[in-house]
Amino acid sequence: MLDDIAAARDAALEQIAEATSLDDIVRIDQDVLGKKGALTQLKTKLGSLASHDDKRAAGQELNSAQREVSEAIDARRAELRATARAATVAAERLDLTEFVTAPRRGHTHIVTQAWERLEDVFTGLGFTVAEGPEVETDWHNFEALNMPTSHPARNEFDTLFVDHAGAPAGTTVLRTHTSPVQIRTMLTLEPPIYIIAPGRVFRRDTPDATHMPVFHQIEGLVIDRDINLGHLAGTIEAFTKAFFGEGFTSRLRPSYFPFTEPSGEFDIRTPSGEWLELGGCGMVHPNVLRYGGIDPEEWSGFAFGFGIDRMAKERHVVEDLREMFTGDIRFSEQF
Ligand code: PHE
Repeated sequence: MLDDIAAARDAALEQIAEATSLDDIVRIDQDVLGKKGALTQLKTKLGSLASHDDKRAAGQELNSAQREVSEAIDARRAELRATARAATVAAERLDLTEFVTAPRRGHTHIVTQAWERLEDVFTGLGFTVAEGPEVETDWHNFEALNMPTSHPARNEFDTLFVDHAGAPAGTTVLRTHTSPVQIRTMLTLEPPIYIIAPGRVFRRDTPDATHMPVFHQIEGLVIDRDINLGHLAGTIEAFTKAFFGEGFTSRLRPSYFPFTEPSGEFDIRTPSGEWLELGGCGMVHPNVLRYGGIDPEEWSGFAFGFGIDRMAKERHVVEDLREMFTGDIRFSEQF
């Protein structure tokens, strides 16, 4: 009997060692330890043993053989599971950094390039960068800039109105210029204020070679004590030289904006003597200072604003503004 037990155990252990799959293990488990398994069958024969001592010895031997086999099955199952898992992981491995063709290195859009250079030059002159929302209130975009509801200057801005739940119709707009950032800045910062505010602006315009309904402007605002027109002209001149080069110069021409008084347009002169119109500017109107919560008796300031797209267009000699916004990579790659 003891020999039979040892033989059955050794045969089972050998099969277990040779098992190569989890299915093998399931089968061996049933064959050896199941109801009809070799060791189980031996148990049924215990009763036929003659002496009590023999029964006990054989019983103990059977139990330890079963335990040994069962442990061997568990161990081998764990091993095979680990191997199977490793194989699955290896088979399903994804290299997320893999690329099939060499990657194309991109670069920033020419408007972004101009925007970033403008920020660099103005921060170099001591300005910080401010921001405002693209969806604005009528109040910030017009009213607080000294353009009440019936003001004729509003006609100059081909406004896009936004339906906005909770606000009366016609009181929410896509900002038509970056000037509302003047108001927002005055309402949040204490003077002295030296900021620029580049951003996207919107007008109801049909796209053509020189107009887009979505374009970019940069606003400048300075509020300090005893600021005068000389400071404005000097800042524009310093900017012109820093941005375009020493060979360039600037001039102011009288103009009109409701939010500045006096107002001007500023032009730059290229080294070849050509004049290019750049943007609008002027001394901040006292009403605008008041709307911004600033006392015009104590503080004064100037503001300017001009288009960024047009500068990129001039710099890179782009014939048609629309080219810059089609997203055609053959265009962007050239710069
Ligand atoms: N916001 C004006 C425009 O879009 C430009 C401007 C800015 C003029 C600041 C004066 C002062 O035309």
